[in-house]
Amino acid sequence: MAWPESGAVRVLYTEAQIREKVSELGRRITCDYDGKPLVLVGILNGSAPFLCDLMRRIELPIEYSFISVSSYGRDTTSSGVVRVHSELRHDVRDKHVLVVEDIVDTGLSLERSYLLPNLLERGATTVKICALMDKPCRRRAKITPDYIGFTIGDEFVVGYGLDADGRYRNLPFVGVCGRSGRENDGQK
Ligand code: PRP
Repeated sequence: MAWPESGAVRVLYTEAQIREKVSELGRRITCDYDGKPLVLVGILNGSAPFLCDLMRRIELPIEYSFISVSSYGRDTTSSGVVRVHSELRHDVRDKHVLVVEDIVDTGLSLERSYLLPNLLERGATTVKICALMDKPCRRRAKITPDYIGFTIGDEFVVGYGLDADGRYRNLPFVGVCGRSGRENDGQK
């Protein structure tokens, strides 16, 4: 295979494993939100593939929207500088909101964007978090996803929306980036 480069990425979860996990999450969400107005809110860029697959596994009349949040790289990760690039324009009043993340690592993106309290202030009935991957060993904020696909260790993962310096987002699987030292840099 020419892409990714040989040895650059070790497969952690195959396309089939991700598909199965997304279906399982979709079934749980379908059951939990039956009869309730549900809005999925994805955090760009990483959550796009996950949200697009997940919403098609939820057998309910849902709505979805995206916001853009990012935190800065290696030098500023420790300070947790988070920027909200685009606000949510969706009306969430009297609706249940499920924030969809590809990964919750330190939790600072969610905490410092004030997204969760902001959604409640906008009148959301409930706000919960669905993360494809959870990396609790690196948590620095009081954030706990309500739905978790995979719990992972301190590994720098790429693919299925996750990048390493902008690369690998379009891999159909999740892998561990093989570049030395990336494992301890966090998902930035
Ligand atoms: C990544 C990822 C999550 C966040 C998780 O986004 O998509 O949103 O980091 O990390 P945290 O829990 O430590 O805050 P990033 O800011 O790299 O932007 P991206 O989605 O555009 O890649």
